[in-house]
Amino acid sequence: MIVRVANGRERWHMLRSPGWLSALAREGHPRFANLKSYAGANAGTNEVIAFARDEIGGAFTWDEIARFRERWKRPLVLKGIMHPADAARAIELGIDGIWVSNHGGRQIDHGLGSLDTLPEIVDVVNGRAKIIVDGGVQRGGDILKALALGADVVALGRLQGWGLAAGGEAGLVRMLEILEDELVSAMGLIGLTGMDKLTRKYVCAAEPVTDAHEMSSWVNMPVARII
Ligand SMILES: Cc1cc2nc3c(=O)[nH]c(=O)nc-3n(C[C@H](O)[C@H](O)[C@H](O)COP(=O)(O)O)c2cc1C
Repeated sequence: MIVRVANGRERWHMLRSPGWLSALAREGHPRFANLKSYAGANAGTNEVIAFARDEIGGAFTWDEIARFRERWKRPLVLKGIMHPADAARAIELGIDGIWVSNHGGRQIDHGLGSLDTLPEIVDVVNGRAKIIVDGGVQRGGDILKALALGADVVALGRLQGWGLAAGGEAGLVRMLEILEDELVSAMGLIGLTGMDKLTRKYVCAAEPVTDAHEMSSWVNMPVARII
């Protein structure tokens, strides 16, 4: 097990958060709450991880998905679809929701982003299932891009963790309010009067965002204003 010692800045943040520190002392590190009870009443973090590895592993097959489909009569969503051929196969098996996701890009470096593959998947699915997408959504404008490229639903991963960590339930609500404000603002800035008018034409491929251009007004702002 690798243990990283907090650096000075992190320690300073911890000391300024006595509520968080006392919860950590009381409860220990966060664990997979949804798996914990299955791993055994007194399972520690390592046991829960070992349980997840043994039970879930990496060997999830199409046969298993077909078996789940047969047994589960309610809507079934498949998360982690990143290729149109997989989307087509899921549709053949009767999956109701295609969740386009690279799991936050945490599993493999240099893989495609969800938005890179979303349009092709939307085309293959062609309305036969709902399309959910996640990965890297951090601004209201990101939601707009995903919807423009054909997603029905946009999901959030880390943002909700950050909102919760920053302010608990209120932090989560505030995060959603900020996203909503940004979304409405982005709609205004691109002249969009309703989601029903949003199409792929609003998005174009571009080089990844880098530092601000030297002519950007951001560059010439006093540092205090940028921060
Ligand atoms: C700490 C962490 C653990 C995650 N664990 C899982 C997991 O067990 N199964 C899964 O399908 N996705 C998992 N994900 C991926 C999220 O469900 C989601 O797809 C991803 O976080 C979305 O990207 P975003 O964080 O940029 O919004 C995890 C993500 C994080 C940050």
